[in-house]
Order: sequence, then structure tokens, then C-alpha cells
Amino acid sequence: MLSDHQQETVQSAILEHKTEQFHQSGLLPILHAIQDRLGFIPADATPIIAKALNLSRAEVHGVITFYHHFRQEQPAQTIVQVCRAEACQSMGAETLWQHVCQRANKDNAITLEPVYCLGLCSTAPAISVNERPYARVNAARFDQLLTRHQDTQTSSTTSAEVAKENTK
Ligand code: FES
Repeated sequence: MLSDHQQETVQSAILEHKTEQFHQSGLLPILHAIQDRLGFIPADATPIIAKALNLSRAEVHGVITFYHHFRQEQPAQTIVQVCRAEACQSMGAETLWQHVCQRANKDNAITLEPVYCLGLCSTAPAISVNERPYARVNAARFDQLLTRHQDTQTSSTTSAEVAKENTK
């Protein structure tokens, strides 16, 4: 069952992105809007979206499960994405992935997700932590970044600091 906040979020996303002429074209923007606001797509949102867009539940569920981007569970406070695409693989991303997996298995406050290119191919391997990108990351640097993020979860890092980190 959706909370009041979740219910309002789903309804507002539908109102913002449903088009009168082509209802179904609103599906992806609606799903993005819900995930951006809630961090995931609650299962109970599926029938509401389906009804609003005149789709079957299976069609909506099929889209949610097709795209890796969409989460079906509430993520942890820290979301780490590790790029597993070719340029990063060639620069040690597999070793980094294994390291991050070990950390995530020990720490329930981390949600680990694979991604396939963060647009930082020339400075691989790349990761993002709570949507902030970092380049040239190895295991030791990841540990430092994670500690810093977890220590300063509520404070914001400026773009300049991120850029500075990426030049290291
Ligand atoms: S391949 Fe990893 S950032 Fe592009």
C-alpha cells in the first residue's frame, strides 16, 4: 500500500506527463519522475499508472523491469554505481567492482548498482556516489570517497570539489 506521500507523488507524476492524445508515451517520463522523487517505483504504483495510461499492469511492469535504471526497492542511503562498460573494464573496473561488492555486502547502508557508461570513459574507471560522478577510481580511492560521503551525507559537495577530485 502506498503512503500518502507516495500516492501524491505518483498522481502528480501522472498529471505532469500524461498527454491527452498519446497516453502511452507518458509512461517513461512518469516512471522517471516517480523514481527521481521517491528513489524507486513502488509496486503499488503499477496499477495506478496502468489505469491512467490505459495500459495493462503487465505492460507497465514489463517496462519497469526491462530498464535497469528503474529500482523496485527502496535504495539505501548511499547509492554507488560502478561502470561496467568496456573502457572502464579495460582500466580495472572488475577489480573495483569486486571490492565495492565486498563493502556493500558488509554495509546495509549501501545500494550497489552496475551501470554501462557514465560518460567518463577517458578517465576510467568511473563510479557515481549518490549521483556524483568520480573518475580514475581504485579500491583505495573508493574507500576514501565512501567514508567522505557517509560522513557528510547531509552536506553538499560543490561542483568545484567534484571537479578537483576527478583530476586526481
Ligand atoms: S565506459 Fe565507463 S564511463 Fe564510459
